[in-house]
Amino acid sequence: MTRYSRITGTGSYLPPRRVTNADLASELAARGIETSDQWIVERTGIRARHFAGPDVTTSDLAVQAARHAIEAAGIAAGDIDLIILATSTPDMVFPSAACIVQNKLGIAGCAAFDVQAVCSGFVYALVIADSMIKTGAASKALVIGAEVFSRILDFNDRTTCVLFGDGAGAVVLEASDTPGILSSDLHADGKHVGILCVPGTVSGGQVLGDPLLKMDGQAVFKLAVGVLEDAARAALAKAGKTAADIDWLVPHQANIRIMQSTAKRLKLPMNKVVVTVDEHGNTSAASIPLALDAAVRSGKVKHGETLMLEGVGGGFTWGAVLLDF
Ligand code: UT7
Repeated sequence: MTRYSRITGTGSYLPPRRVTNADLASELAARGIETSDQWIVERTGIRARHFAGPDVTTSDLAVQAARHAIEAAGIAAGDIDLIILATSTPDMVFPSAACIVQNKLGIAGCAAFDVQAVCSGFVYALVIADSMIKTGAASKALVIGAEVFSRILDFNDRTTCVLFGDGAGAVVLEASDTPGILSSDLHADGKHVGILCVPGTVSGGQVLGDPLLKMDGQAVFKLAVGVLEDAARAALAKAGKTAADIDWLVPHQANIRIMQSTAKRLKLPMNKVVVTVDEHGNTSAASIPLALDAAVRSGKVKHGETLMLEGVGGGFTWGAVLLDF
């Protein structure tokens, strides 16, 4: 019998501190930096984001999201035999945040590792988990996207600091006789390293270079729109489907205008697109599972529907996963 993988539970967690555009604008004004709710809403669709408290780490957010996903799947934490955590803001250089989450869940023994593909990280992690389940290397995987992006923001740079937020989303992916994940399409092109990066590193006990996020927003925007359409079409073709078969597009939540362009190119109406960027901002690797969980818990996304999950971000990396939920 063919072995497939299927999402059996979703979960998410946002740190409690909700910061509106107006809150952020007044914080930035105190530094002599001008921005406005109107600019942020018109250019991005973002109205608010959540910021974690100073002592809260990625694994703290991740473990909350993981617990919700495990509960929704109706399994015990001890049943998990693989943890993959996508993040660019791990608690420490090593060990991985996935190992820290494993311990916080009170379990031990199963494989656990982080994936670093920035905003495409969750899609990458899901594809790896799907592959490991299909080969029999795992049966019940916990796949998490979690970030404290506020830690790598330059609050003196209004072109980036208004865009991002903190949070975590997770899914339980289990072996199944019937297909859940139908197809996927992953890519990277390292020649675009410079348009979205945190160029600093730790060496010899020192931070070398600049440890805060740098982005050429317009260059990222242009690339994102094209590759998101290509990845979606490639994943559809591999599954023998067309865009008309998509019930819900669950895209990376970076900018409402990118989502609108992608939907238009795929000829999907916006009422088939899950949008949470207004309330979450861009939470990088956490954005897709956060959006998915919000849509599931609000009753929008239902079992049996066909979903297209799509991510794009630093690297440059991008990818899509088509699945029956
Ligand atoms: O998750 C990874 C993927 N990341 C993305 O997908 C981000 C992709 N890029 C974008 O979303 C958009 O390019 C941005 C939202 C970052 C910027 O929007 P834009 O429409 O490309 O604006 P722009 O960079 O062309 O800036 C327009 C103006 C500039 O002023 P001038 O030069 O026209 O006088 C900026 O200085 O807006 C100014 N500006 C701001 N004004 C008020 C830039 N940031 C701000 C701000 N508040 N926060």
